[in-house]
Amino acid sequence: MRTIIEPFRIKSVEPIRRTTRLEREKALELAHLNLFGLHTDDVLIDLLTDSGTGAMSSEQWAGIMRGDETYAGAKSFDRFQASVRDVTGFEHVIPTHQGRSAEHLLFGLVGGNGRTIPNNTHFDTTRANIELSGARALDLPCVESSDLSSDAPFKGDIDLVALERLLASESGRVPLAMVTITNNAGGGQPVSYANLLAARDLCRRFRVPLFLDACRFAENAWLVRQREPGMEQRSPREIARMFFDLADGCTMSAKKDGLANIGGFVALRDASMAEELCTRLVVTEGFPTYGGLAGRDLEAIAIGLQEVLDPDYLEYRQASIHYVVERLRARGVPVVRPAGGHAIFLDAKSFLRHVGPHEYPGQALAIELYLEGGVRSCEIGSVMLGRVDPGTRALVPARHELVRLAIPRRTYTQSHMDYLLEVVDAVWSRRDGIAGVRISKCPAVLRHFRAEFERVAVRDGAAR
Ligand code: F0G
Repeated sequence: MRTIIEPFRIKSVEPIRRTTRLEREKALELAHLNLFGLHTDDVLIDLLTDSGTGAMSSEQWAGIMRGDETYAGAKSFDRFQASVRDVTGFEHVIPTHQGRSAEHLLFGLVGGNGRTIPNNTHFDTTRANIELSGARALDLPCVESSDLSSDAPFKGDIDLVALERLLASESGRVPLAMVTITNNAGGGQPVSYANLLAARDLCRRFRVPLFLDACRFAENAWLVRQREPGMEQRSPREIARMFFDLADGCTMSAKKDGLANIGGFVALRDASMAEELCTRLVVTEGFPTYGGLAGRDLEAIAIGLQEVLDPDYLEYRQASIHYVVERLRARGVPVVRPAGGHAIFLDAKSFLRHVGPHEYPGQALAIELYLEGGVRSCEIGSVMLGRVDPGTRALVPARHELVRLAIPRRTYTQSHMDYLLEVVDAVWSRRDGIAGVRISKCPAVLRHFRAEFERVAVRDGAAR
């Protein structure tokens, strides 16, 4: 059979509510045109994030009932630790309540003034935690990643030339290097094994530890299996382990490839570093056998980490994202290619050519997708990643203006994807009349979560 199906049947359903265009306009106005301000009842298909929004399996729900809520020495921790060790091979496993708390813990220890932490592209919370410690977060995306429409297979790779240059000039100031698999901020694109191997060799030469941001390690493994010569016969589990074997440790948000609704961890090989992290953990997260999580959460993650490596699951997940990307591409809609692991990324700069970066085309497009069909997406462009120059107060735009349609795991079906295509199509056909926005109010850090926006007028004749 050629049809790739959802490899599960649905045992529990959650109704979603249709709204009228007028209701959506009102809801968006109340949210000051910020989609993070919408109430779930006003959203039909929620593609804001793939983080913590997936469906758990019946096995995971059974695990929830087995949760051992003992403060210290819980059985659930043993199962969690065994599962993380089994998948990653890292000896020391430190639970945290989600990925950013793992980052906060790690960079609280190794960050600080005068230090630099390179990455293929830091996710926004990783960058914020590094900068909060006083260190510099440096993005070193590979050259191929700047061409959004090319079909280069590994646009998530780190730029090895730039990494070598950094390590050669200031390795004493680099406490560790990171590689994010898959590269979320760069379009959900995978990192190749060859690239990670070369990055590891550089790190070894300069005696700098290498850590993975492993949130989407299984999706990365699947894309490597499909795209990297010599990998097609290996299982996702084997490939994932090959990646972890190259690293000294990882931070993880179990809300992605842990298939859980909450949780994360730091896992690593170095015993003394683990000891220091545990000391800090007790202050901010909790005792090292629960780290801010309930025993039941540890159970859900322990099971999720195993289920996520099922080839049937990964095949279906990739197929549904590929399906949307290929259809959009056939219609001429500017979309990041090739299909990534967890989301579809629209190229808002090309979609709304008449809207300049100072009028946030990604935000303008995300607003229209919601108004058109109740689809909530997320801007990953100058609202999220742009910087305000401290001297001139002017916006330094982000490299790309993207809108991410993140697909929650095991949650939506093929017909939801067909509906999504219809919504994007409708917005595409009226793109010339879409206005940009300006920020009317915003906080100093992670401004996309709480910024407020106003529309700017559509300029006559400014369209393509
Ligand atoms: N690293 C990456 C690559 C991420 O994508 C995220 C979260 C984190 C770290 C932080 O993990 O949310 O558990 O604290 N990404 C979500 C997203 C929020 O929508 O992409 P967290």
